[in-house]
Amino acid sequence: MSGNQIRIFDTTLRDGEQAPGCSMTITEKLRVAKALAELKVDVIEAGFPAASPGDFDSVKAIADQNHGPVICGLARCNPGDIEKVYEAVKSADRHRIHVFVATSAIHREHKLKMAKEEIIKSAVGAIKMARELVDDVEFSPEDASRTELSYLAEVVSAAIEAGATTVNIPDTVGYTVPAEFDRLFRYLKEHVARIDDIVLSVHCHNDLGMAVANSLAAVIAGARQIECTINGIGERAGNCSLEEAVMAIKTRAEFFDVETGIETNRLYPTSRLVSSITGMHTPRNKAIVGENAFAHEAGIHQHGMLQHASTYEIMRPEDVGLSRSNLVLGKHSGRHAFRGRIADLGFELDEFEMNRAFQEFKKLADLKKDIYDGDLEAIIMSADNASSGPWTLKALEVQTHTDQPATAAVTLISEDSKEVVESAHGDGPVAAAFLALEKATGVELVLRNFELHSASIGEDAQGEVTVNVEHEGESYRGRGTSVDIVEAGCRACLEVMNRILRRKKYGRSGPGKPTPEQATI
Ligand code: KIV
Ligand code: ZN
Repeated sequence: MSGNQIRIFDTTLRDGEQAPGCSMTITEKLRVAKALAELKVDVIEAGFPAASPGDFDSVKAIADQNHGPVICGLARCNPGDIEKVYEAVKSADRHRIHVFVATSAIHREHKLKMAKEEIIKSAVGAIKMARELVDDVEFSPEDASRTELSYLAEVVSAAIEAGATTVNIPDTVGYTVPAEFDRLFRYLKEHVARIDDIVLSVHCHNDLGMAVANSLAAVIAGARQIECTINGIGERAGNCSLEEAVMAIKTRAEFFDVETGIETNRLYPTSRLVSSITGMHTPRNKAIVGENAFAHEAGIHQHGMLQHASTYEIMRPEDVGLSRSNLVLGKHSGRHAFRGRIADLGFELDEFEMNRAFQEFKKLADLKKDIYDGDLEAIIMSADNASSGPWTLKALEVQTHTDQPATAAVTLISEDSKEVVESAHGDGPVAAAFLALEKATGVELVLRNFELHSASIGEDAQGEVTVNVEHEGESYRGRGTSVDIVEAGCRACLEVMNRILRRKKYGRSGPGKPTPEQATI
C-alpha cells in the first residue's frame, strides 16, 4: 500500500453490534459482511469470539465465507481469548488478531487494578503469543486519549518491539478534540522509535459529536487506518461513521492528500442494509446517507442547482450510490424494470429471491399506486424473515373503538398446515393483536419498544415496525413490513416468536459452520 493509502477497518459487527438494540443474528452478520466486502473495506472486525459461543460462531462463519477483506477478531490480553480469535479467523486467507488492554490511570486504578509495568507486561505477552499464531497483530491501548503521553509512548514502543503490526489509538470515551488528538499523534510520531514500521490506526467514539473530526485530525497527523462503523453505530453515541470519514477524504482529496479503496457508490445501499437490519434508522439530516442529504428545498438553492449543480452540491448523489432518478414503479412495471431497479439499489438476488421479491412487489402494487425505492428495500428485507417458520400469518382482523378496548383475531398456519385462530382484547389494536399471537403460538413476550418507520412517502406508504421484546430474560428484535401498521407490528412480533420456537427446537448453533436452519436462529 502506498503511503497515502488509508485502510478502512470496519467494526460494525463488533463495536457497532455491541450497542444496545444493534445485535444481529448470524444470517444478518453474514449479509453485512458480504456488503462490507463489496464496499471494499480493508479489514472487517467480525466480533469478539470469547464474548459468547454465538460471537465465536459468527466470526468463524464470516471467516469461512472468505470474501476478501482481512477478517479480524478482538481479544483481551489472555491466552484463552487469543486462542479463540485464532480458531475463529484462521480459515480466512487474510486474518488478524486484535488485542487490547486499558492504559489510562482511571482504568488502571478502578477497572484493572494493575500497575503500569504489569499492563505493559500483559500487552507484550499477549502480542507475542498472537504473533506466534498469525503475522498480522493489532494492539489497542484502550482509553489511550486519557493516558499520560509519556506512558502511552512507552506502551506503544513495547507493543511494536513485541511484534504488533498495527497500533490503534482509541478515544474510547469520545473525550478528545481534534487539536488535542493531533498533538497526541505527533507526540507518538516523535517519541516512539520504530513507529514508521507499523500502521498507526485511529478509533474514535462520538460522545461529543467529534468522532469523524478526531479521526480526520489523526489522519492529518499520520494515522493510516481509520476504525469506523456503517452509520456510525456503536456504544453510546456511536463510533466514527465510515461513510462520513470516507466521503470527507474523497471530497477534500486536495486537502487530505490521501485516499481509501472504498467503492463509494456502495455506501448508500450498505447504510440502508445496516439500518434495516438493526432497526437503527438514520436521521433525515444525517450527512452522506440521510434522506435529506441531497434534497434542496429552498427556492434560491433550487434555482442555483438548476443553473449548475456545484453551486450547492459538493458531492454527487450517485457517488454515494443514491440515484437521482427517483424512479417510481407501479402496477404495470414489468420484471425487467423491477430487476433493473433492484440492481440500481445495490441488491444482488438469486433467481429464487428475485421471483419471490417480484411476486411481493406485484401484491404491493395492487395495494398502493406508486412503489418507491424504500418499498422495494422493505420487500427485500422482509423476504428474509418470510422464509423462517414455523408460523405464518394468514389473516388479521382488528376492531378499535374510541372508548372501549380494541379486539383482534389472528389466523396462523403452521409448517405442517395446521390452522389456528385466536382472538384477544387489548388497550389498543397492537396490544390486542400481540395477545392473540401469544395465545396462538404459546410464546409470551414482554414488549420493551415499538418503533414505526415509514418505508417510503405518501399516505399509503408501507410501515416498517421494529419491536424489541424480552422472553425468559433474553432480548430479541424483530421487524415487519406492511401497508397496515398493525399487521407490520404482528409480523415483527411473529418473527421473534418463530425465532424463539426454532431455538427451542434446534438449540443454539454449536461451534463450526452453522446449518442453514441454525444460521437463522
Ligand atoms: O473503544 C475502544 O477502546 C475499543 C477498543 C477495544 C479498540 O473499542
Ligand atoms: Zn470502541
